[in-house]
Amino acid sequence: MSIPTGPVGPLRFPRDFGWGAATSAYQIEGAAKEDGRGESVWDTFSRTPGRTHNGDTGDVAADHYHRYAEDLDLMRDLGLRSYRFSISWPRIQPDGTGAPNQRGLDFYRRLLDGLHERGIAPMATLFHWDLPQALQDLGGWEERDTALRFADYADAVFHALGDRVPAWLTINEPKTVVQNGYLDGHHAPGRQDPDAAYLVAHHLQLAHGLAVHALRATGGTGRIGPAFNLHPCYPADDSPEAATAAQLYDGYENRLYLDSVLKGSYPQDVLADLGPQSRMVRGIRDGDLAVISAPVDLLAVQYYTPIYVTADGGTEPRWPTTAAGWQQIYPDGMYDILTRVTRDYGPIPLTVTENGLPTADLLAADDTVDDAGRISFLRDHLAAAHQAITAGVPLESFHVWSLLDNFEWNEGYDQRWGLVYVDYPTQRRVLKSSAHWYRSVIADSGF
Ligand code: FCB
Repeated sequence: MSIPTGPVGPLRFPRDFGWGAATSAYQIEGAAKEDGRGESVWDTFSRTPGRTHNGDTGDVAADHYHRYAEDLDLMRDLGLRSYRFSISWPRIQPDGTGAPNQRGLDFYRRLLDGLHERGIAPMATLFHWDLPQALQDLGGWEERDTALRFADYADAVFHALGDRVPAWLTINEPKTVVQNGYLDGHHAPGRQDPDAAYLVAHHLQLAHGLAVHALRATGGTGRIGPAFNLHPCYPADDSPEAATAAQLYDGYENRLYLDSVLKGSYPQDVLADLGPQSRMVRGIRDGDLAVISAPVDLLAVQYYTPIYVTADGGTEPRWPTTAAGWQQIYPDGMYDILTRVTRDYGPIPLTVTENGLPTADLLAADDTVDDAGRISFLRDHLAAAHQAITAGVPLESFHVWSLLDNFEWNEGYDQRWGLVYVDYPTQRRVLKSSAHWYRSVIADSGF
């Protein structure tokens, strides 16, 4: 499907559209040893020689833990209406279990108060990959018990902060944990074990469902949903083999996560491909899918790239790639994935919680950063999102990844994804040209 062409004119979004930006705890906070924070798998992974570019770690990152007030002012100056951030599990439960650490909770309460004071709606992710290392030492997401520990952690957060958070996201991109953490191993915990990987997928889905139940049990009014990175999968050619391969690829990329939460079943083609003896299939217990498919209030979609699947089940690029080699620039994919979700799963409210690209940003002598490539990327993807709204997709909000340059996992600090440039030696923030552009888009409700 492609975006219908029409007269090129100003695009106007709904007046109450939730213009936003996103971050995650380990990528921006720093303060790795402060106020009782425990170790996470990303501390371990990034401190292991050879795991990250330049040996970079999140120890300091963008120092947001200390500079959050300045960052809140930046958000206000941009006119943001929504801020998506994550809560660090090891700040709340340093060992992944037990009574919550009050100083950790206090940080997020200060952040939430600051958002409310500035009229910015918080959207809090409970897990953006920073599993407490103590739980990893017990087997991490390969252990079913980790899903139960997650529900306890979520319950503690709901009770402490629930009055301040209108929208919760459970697990950020379970697929990335599965693929990067357990298939190719370039993310924490750095495993390469396909059989373990899909058991991990099931436990992440179970953790999601248990957290939804925990929120409902508090009686709170906050909304909750999962955050999935969805990749539209297209056959690379016209052969029936490529069509079949793309269909199965889609099962692993998208339906494994969407179907279990929104339909209460895992896709049969994926289960058959994994086989009855796989650890995942053996790990699914009666009742699990009822837990996983507890009704959610919204679905968070993160879109970065399409995938073209060849007849032999491999992939090949079709469009120009960004500095993140895995990312092809294809705005129509945004339209395709949003309309597909609505078509296949019904009119569940959608939010785009990540979209963006890394660019080779340079701080000029006159204190400007010209990132024209980011402006055209965002303009094209927003136009596709607008087209999806016009086609009937209930899209409420859009969050640029990312508010700030930050620690891009194994890529360290070299990839700059922010609207705001971070001069790491001084931690000074400088608005890039895309930030100025985004501010005017928000002010005008479009472009
Ligand atoms: C997503 C992650 C986010 C960031 C972007 C570039 O997969 O959720 O933390 O790394 O990619």
